[in-house]
Formats: sequence, structure tokens, C-alpha cells
Amino acid sequence: MNARKFVREAVAEIRETVRDERAISALSGGVDSSVVTALGHRALGDRLEVIFIDDGLMRQDEPREVKEAFGEMGIKVRVINAKKRFFAALAGLTDPEDKRKAFRHTFYEVFGEAVKKSGACFLLQGTIAPDVIETKGKVKTQHNVLDQIGISAKGKYGFQVIEPIKTLYKPGVRRVARALGLPKAFSERMPFPGPGLMTRCVGEATPRRIEIVRRACKIAEEETTRYKPFQAFGVLLADKATGLTKAGKRHYGDIVVIRCVQSKDAMTATATKLSWPVLERIRERVLEACPTVTKVLLDITGKPPSTIEYI
Ligand code: XMP
Repeated sequence: MNARKFVREAVAEIRETVRDERAISALSGGVDSSVVTALGHRALGDRLEVIFIDDGLMRQDEPREVKEAFGEMGIKVRVINAKKRFFAALAGLTDPEDKRKAFRHTFYEVFGEAVKKSGACFLLQGTIAPDVIETKGKVKTQHNVLDQIGISAKGKYGFQVIEPIKTLYKPGVRRVARALGLPKAFSERMPFPGPGLMTRCVGEATPRRIEIVRRACKIAEEETTRYKPFQAFGVLLADKATGLTKAGKRHYGDIVVIRCVQSKDAMTATATKLSWPVLERIRERVLEACPTVTKVLLDITGKPPSTIEYI
């Protein structure tokens, strides 16, 4: 693929589809939605409104960092605080697919309202090839796949979806990001799933449980940079394990798993061989940051038979 040619064609296609109308871009700060936002901005200028939904499932400081970084590129980002809505939609749900479908529905509902309010007819989003393949193959319901599985976004939520990079895999997306001149912090950024920390929280996704995952993810990411992993993160299991408090009393606490993988395109993956000192540092930091945790485990499974995320 010639990345410059891809950019020219994608920009032309967005212009042709949107014509004189307005569009909204669903920005999450990941490389996929960042590329689509940059393409949309190049094609439509001020007729593109960029929206970042703060769903409460993002990495630490993500909403502020994304808004600031895009602001520096001259792209204004509106942040919608929808944390309460997402946690209300996820309350009581423990089945992975129920959680994914509830997330997807809330995601499109919130965007549907924003699209209607702004008078736009189109939503640009960063769906890529593996999202479609995994949803169609019934591996898992990706948050951003609707029309391809027979659910009409226009009929159900009132807007037409435009997916300029749906034929690309991650390495291709990164090449387009570089051709667009996006800062390295975005073009080389570690992939992060649309449904965010929910995919790393087995069982109910409550604000308290998500905060444990958020802290564990930050630590795993920070401590593994030297391995240049495809993804590194922490997971909170639904099980508990008996531990001891500092005073030697029984403490039936949470279990956190550390997952770090190498991969090219997310279709297959292998576990990164982390050194023992790195693992010990991660364990110490997780126990310090998350006082309810009594066990820190390491996941050494590849994909297949695992998937990368936990739900
Ligand atoms: P799995 O867990 O299926 O993930 O091996 C493959 C890649 O996709 C990411 N992922 C998602 N990305 N929406 C996304 O935008 C989703 O619903 C979703 N689920 C998983 C995951 O982080 C990995 O990079």
C-alpha cells in the first residue's frame, strides 16, 4: 500500500460522501480514530466536529491528553462526559458479550444524540479489518461494527457511518498516520480497545473495579516499555484469593493478572518474556497502588488459543 495515495483517495472519498453536509468524528485517542480524525479534518475542515466521549473506561489522564494534543495540531475536540451513562448501562452485567453489546449500544446512542444536535448526518469512525473479522467470525462483538452484521446505523441511530480505514491492519494504519504527519505519540501508540478498560475487567465493570484496572494498566505499560510490546496491561479477575493484611489478618482480596504480548496485527500474539526483576517491580507497584489486591499473576498464553483481551 502507498500511504500517501491512500490518504489522497480517502480524503476524496470522504468529501464525495459528505458533500456540503457536516460530519462528526468519534475520537478515542487510539491510532485508528486519530488517523480517521486527521483524514476527516483534511477533507472537511470546520465541517468536521471532533467528539471524545469520556466513558469512564479510559486510561489515566487520556481525555485531557488527547484534547491537548489535538488542540496543538489545530483540531478542536469536544469532550462529552458520559461516565454515569456507561456505568449505568453496565451495572449488573457480568457476561462478556452482554457487556460488549451494552457498551456498543450506549456508544452509538451518545453519538446519535451528538450527531442530531450538531445537524450532522455522518459519523466517521476508526473501524479496522480485525474489528470486522472478529465480529463477523463471532469471536467477540467489537464496539464499532454494525452495518457489516446487518444492523443499520441509519435506521437505529439516525446517522450514516463512514469507515475510511476498514480495509487496513495495524501496520497499515501506522503508515497512514506517519504519512499524515501525526505526532509519534499517536502514530506509534500502543493499541487500546474501544470499550476500554471494560475488556480487562472480568465480571461487573463498576467505577471501583475499573479504577484497579486503570492503575494496573498504567504500571504494566510503564514497566515494559523496553520490550516495545504490542500491548501491555493489567486485568482484574472476577475471582478472589485469600491473603494477609499487614497486621497478619485474613484478607479475601482481588486478583490482578499482568498481560504483555508481541504481535504484528493483533490476529495472533505471543507472550513477552519479561525478566524477573521487571515482574517483581510490577508486583510491588500493583500491591502498593491497589490495596484490595492479594494476588498478582502473569499470563503467558498466546493468541490462539487466547485472545489478547479478557472479554
Ligand atoms: P482480541 O482481544 O480479540 O483483540 O485478541 C484484538 C485487538 O483488538 C482490540 N480490541 C478491540 N478494539 N474495539 C476495538 O476498537 C473492541 O471492541 C475491541 N476488542 C478488542 C484489542 O485490544 C487487540 O488489540
